[in-house]
Amino acid sequence: MKLLTAVPVSLTLLEVSWSQDRKQEGQVTVKERDTFQTTCTYQVTSFYGLLWYQQRKGQAPQLISNQAAAGPRRSGRLTTVLNTTGKNSLLWLEEVKVSDAALYLCAV
Ligand SMILES: *[C@@H]1O[C@H](CO)[C@@H](O)[C@H](O)[C@H]1NC(C)=O
Repeated sequence: MKLLTAVPVSLTLLEVSWSQDRKQEGQVTVKERDTFQTTCTYQVTSFYGLLWYQQRKGQAPQLISNQAAAGPRRSGRLTTVLNTTGKNSLLWLEEVKVSDAALYLCAV
């Protein structure tokens, strides 16, 4: 399993920094009740699925999405959209709450 994206999200004013394959880094600010969005790109020859984990501070990562088929997949406030042609996955978290503060990890 290869870790592709790490997105730490902190409290209230959600400071979001991210990296993809550790090449790019950036920072955005997400306010409570806004939508948080990030993309993960992958480059593997054998694709079995894309996993998104949420890791709260001091806790183990928790699997929040496991998707192998292209298209959108919605679970409550969380939507992931897998594009197997473009080899990317969009994570979309609506109505962000303080309890969403976590590190968001993407893996294939
Ligand atoms: C998937 O990615 C490809 C390449 O970036 C793009 O052309 C295509 O429109 C995307 N498909 C969807 C459904 O977004």
